[in-house]
Amino acid sequence: MTETIESLLKEQKKYYPPEEFVRNANMKDPQIYEKAEEDLEGFWEELAYNIDWFKKWDTVLDWQPPHAKWFSGAKLNASYNCLDRHISKHGDKTALIWEGEMENSATYTYRELLDATARFAAALKEMGIKKGDVVTIYLPMIPEAVISMLACSRIGAPHSVVFAGFSADALAQRMNDSNSHYLITCDGYFHKGKLIEQKEKADIGLENCNCVEKVIVTNHAANAIAMKEDRDIWWDELIHNVDSECEPEHMDAEDILFLMYTSGTTGKPKGVVHTTGGYMVGTNVTSKWIFDLKDDDIYWCTADVGWITGHSYLVYGPLSNGATIVMHEGAPDYPDKGRFWDIVEKYGVTIFYTAPTAIRTFMKWGDDIPAKYDLSSLRLLGSVGEPINPKAWLWYYEVIGNSHCPIVDTWWQTETGMIMISPLPGLTTMKPGTATRPFPGIKASVLDDDGNEVPEGNGGSLAIERPWPSMIRTINGDEQRFLDTYWSKWGTDRYLAGDGARRDKDGYFWVLGRLDDVIKVSGHRLGTMEIESSLVSHKAVAEAAVDGKTDEIKGEVVVAYVILEADAKASDELKQELKEHVVEEIGPIARPKQIIFTDDLPKTRSGKIMRRVLKAITNDTEVGDITTLQNPAVVEELKRKVNELR
Ligand code: WTA
Repeated sequence: MTETIESLLKEQKKYYPPEEFVRNANMKDPQIYEKAEEDLEGFWEELAYNIDWFKKWDTVLDWQPPHAKWFSGAKLNASYNCLDRHISKHGDKTALIWEGEMENSATYTYRELLDATARFAAALKEMGIKKGDVVTIYLPMIPEAVISMLACSRIGAPHSVVFAGFSADALAQRMNDSNSHYLITCDGYFHKGKLIEQKEKADIGLENCNCVEKVIVTNHAANAIAMKEDRDIWWDELIHNVDSECEPEHMDAEDILFLMYTSGTTGKPKGVVHTTGGYMVGTNVTSKWIFDLKDDDIYWCTADVGWITGHSYLVYGPLSNGATIVMHEGAPDYPDKGRFWDIVEKYGVTIFYTAPTAIRTFMKWGDDIPAKYDLSSLRLLGSVGEPINPKAWLWYYEVIGNSHCPIVDTWWQTETGMIMISPLPGLTTMKPGTATRPFPGIKASVLDDDGNEVPEGNGGSLAIERPWPSMIRTINGDEQRFLDTYWSKWGTDRYLAGDGARRDKDGYFWVLGRLDDVIKVSGHRLGTMEIESSLVSHKAVAEAAVDGKTDEIKGEVVVAYVILEADAKASDELKQELKEHVVEEIGPIARPKQIIFTDDLPKTRSGKIMRRVLKAITNDTEVGDITTLQNPAVVEELKRKVNELR
């Protein structure tokens, strides 16, 4: 009891950044918020000068809700901003430190990274890849992933990175949706010492992909693979005879930089479209102010390049600031549970950015593991991907940060491109569990269904009220879905984030989690309907409903309610088979933790699954009004089944 009260008091406590941090912070002007409000376009325009442009813009913002054009008329190149422009002063500075799964490592200076990128870009061009051609990248956390992204952006070919852990089917689906003719992958890689045969997985996927023409394969694990004649080519052969120079393409500010597929509320993932100018301005300044990047920092973002965090805060944001980034291939517990702290010590990491699910895992493993390492180089910590509970926040602050590192709890999304709500570490008083205030120039609010602001302290739906430079431009090939998903609830000038939130008396935002059919499992974004459609594609399944169940470590885990076909027999083996089926269709991150066989699901009279009721059943909370259910008796029955599993 005393412990609870104590921890509650601690949660209410405010934390101030250390004086020295404040003194040296990149952003220490408390007026910055007001300044941005007074002249929004002027604010972003000034920040745009942190990017190098081949040609200046005609207008800062052209806003025709919900379509924004930022820096129209301007020309730039993302890879030029991440590489070339640093060479004169910082050519020999380390750009990338790569730490491999097998404790092997490599470093690239800015000059070396530029050379590798330019050469590969020249090779892509020679192969026939043109501006506007979508190139799919299906690589694990190896330098070639970063080089590929930068090479694509150099020649103006939008990249579409598919998380290496996704399945063959998931790869094919994304390639088909983006009509991508080119794939960059590798022979294989190791995960916790186990070989993952990436090329073989890609080959299986490509059987269902009519658009593919060329596959570039980089040699990583040296496992034996099959190369298909006239289609597959080794990376090393490709770059062998090409020029080491490749002039960066002059791209329009609104030309597409990349597509990033993410889960939504239907069975099909959506290709979020990001363009070049605004995205670079947004990720550049948020990296500089929120991560306080300085010339001598060693910055480590643990996110995979297959997710938006890897794009914005492993690659484009930090490199456009000329930072030294650490990239780690592998897991936090391989070869042992001290792996992350070992890397922090080895390279003297100063800024560390990870997900709450990792922090809670470290916490569970115990304080004595990080205690074995020298973590004194750390000066700033970050969190992203899901709400961080105050207990985990405090542990991170005290045990990892030794109570002297500010924590930036950063709220944002694939669609927002950049961090939207976060402390500015030299300015903001922190409270554990809240992402605090919107970034200068960003206006967030908490609304009810009718679009009215809810009273302070009440829960509501998180909205963004104005355009911002790195915002989603559309969904690839599905403008209607773009309009319906984000701009139909309150009209076309207020963006529906899909998260629940409340605002406290200090104006701080507490993000409570998704309000739609998206779940977050270990920080990975999954659509419940995506998993449902994969389940029903199994011959034994007649119908399925998938839900997220709160989990102390992972945030949420996948629970699947399954109605079997009449001729299928419920068994533990079948449960196992269905779990594997989902892994095959989507990937290991979507594997259901629990499968519950049932004869019925909670449905409305029109036959729609009542998600609210299902959520209450899964999480054993108050079910509320069920009078509109077709079959109210199913609630008790399912509750009993769920409880049996506890
Ligand atoms: C959740 C990840 C609370 C949220 C960058 C959002 C967070 C979804 C936070 C987007 C945070 C991300 N606090 N929730 N600091 N950061 N989220 O597209 O539900 O993978 O809508 O982008 O993650 O997930 P996505």
